Amino acid sequence: MISGLTEDAIVEQAGRAGSHFAVRKAQMHDIGPILTVINGYAAKGVMLPRTELDVSEDIRDFSVIVSEGRLVGCGALHFYSPSIGEIRSLAVAEDAKTLGIGRRLIEALVREASHYSLDAVFAFTYVPGFFGKMGFQEVERGELPLKAWKDCVRCPKFQCCDEIAVMRVLRPEYGANSQRYLQPEDSHLVQLPVLRQLDRR
Ligand SMILES: CC(C)(COP(=O)(O)OP(=O)(O)OC[C@H]1O[C@@H](n2cnc3c(N)ncnc32)[C@H](O)[C@@H]1OP(=O)(O)O)[C@@H](O)C(=O)NCCC(=O)NCCS
Repeated sequence: MISGLTEDAIVEQAGRAGSHFAVRKAQMHDIGPILTVINGYAAKGVMLPRTELDVSEDIRDFSVIVSEGRLVGCGALHFYSPSIGEIRSLAVAEDAKTLGIGRRLIEALVREASHYSLDAVFAFTYVPGFFGKMGFQEVERGELPLKAWKDCVRCPKFQCCDEIAVMRVLRPEYGANSQRYLQPEDSHLVQLPVLRQLDRR
């Protein structure tokens, strides 16, 4: 239940590994390096492939971490409604994993979502354990905004999707005010998801 969320799920934690990596909004010259990192994982089937065209279209969604002149991580916040956004295209260069870069990117994207007064962010992922550590909880895929599936048509796993949907609530009043998501003007975009505890590895 949303109302069962603990404060830990919505509060950022300071002083963690990776806090020395600076996150900045992406610029046009980041498009090539973003594609390299994402499509490296896409070739292994763990992420959706992205094209230069769609990363260019979405470049304002992206934040990046550059270390010693090299892009080592990226992630994007994509809006779906006035109250909900998706964290997507999150990728850390293979040789820069486990240094806290993924956490830094999530923290920055969540901060950005809060800046825009979003109630919640969601993601589709094969790494629910990581998202669990970032304060996300598992939700039913079918309960997320229909538009979330707009990417699926170009996914090789369209007919056999095994990604797990996760959500992080950013505003405690989200649960209390959940009925407003069911009002007619919102209901085609957002339905109230049912949160479950993620398996935290
Ligand atoms: C998932 C990914 C973004 C994590 O980035 P990272 O920089 O290695 O993660 P961090 O070092 O910030 O880890 C933060 C915490 O999550 C944990 N974690 C990292 N990867 C994990 C995983 N695959 N499963 C469970 N926990 C994980 C870390 O142990 C760490 O925990 P701690 O704070 O208790 O020590 C990175 O492994 C990656 O790019 N994977 C391939 C692409 C992908 O799957 N992206 C997600 C698309 S939605």
